[in-house]
Amino acid sequence: MTPDDYDATPYLPPRGGLPAHQRAAAECRGCPLYRAATQTVIGSGAATARLMLVGEQPGDQEDRAGRPFVGPAGHLLHKALAEAGLGDEKTYVTNAVKHFKFAPAERGKRRIHKPPSLREAAACRPWPAAELRLVRPELVVALGATAGRALPGPSFRVTEDRGTVLSLPDVQGGAPPAAGGVVATVHPSAVLRATDREAAYAGLVADLRVAADALAA
Ligand code: URA
Ligand code: SF4
Repeated sequence: MTPDDYDATPYLPPRGGLPAHQRAAAECRGCPLYRAATQTVIGSGAATARLMLVGEQPGDQEDRAGRPFVGPAGHLLHKALAEAGLGDEKTYVTNAVKHFKFAPAERGKRRIHKPPSLREAAACRPWPAAELRLVRPELVVALGATAGRALPGPSFRVTEDRGTVLSLPDVQGGAPPAAGGVVATVHPSAVLRATDREAAYAGLVADLRVAADALAA
């Protein structure tokens, strides 16, 4: 497989709903990331959710659990959602890339996350696009640059585009979301790594409030 061949498309089921896609994703070999990871981590949550949250890729704990945002970044995200008034909102939570990419751990240490390459992210894009088409949320929150490039599109820049409601261009092969659009913000892992963690966290909550207001409108 050369980088030019990376593509999840052949692994998508020709028809079927979310469960059929979730089963098919488990068998995806669209790029080399499946080889070292434990399992595919597809999205989870309500198929009727009005709000879809898109992260970058599963981390160490998500790779073991098989579910997105169950580790430290997820904990911070759920706290921020509650603070922004979205604690009771039904959500569908997923990632732009479905396999964990990491550097081999030294003995006894946690595996170290590595960002997916642009080619890997582009290869995986049919999965979040299919989830978007099937869930049809009113609003998407893109967490960080990888999610932003997968959904609003390649020209997306977190620093310039965060905290406003952007329109979502037609998603590959299907209907756009029912209404609303996409609000981009920083990734919760970036908040955890920030030198000024309080300010970074406040920024995340402020952007999520924009999403909460858009849903309430
Ligand atoms: N970071 C992500 O982007 N997604 C997860 O599921 C966990 C951490
Ligand atoms: Fe398929 Fe995406 Fe996993 Fe690559 S990262 S194998 S494209 S599911």
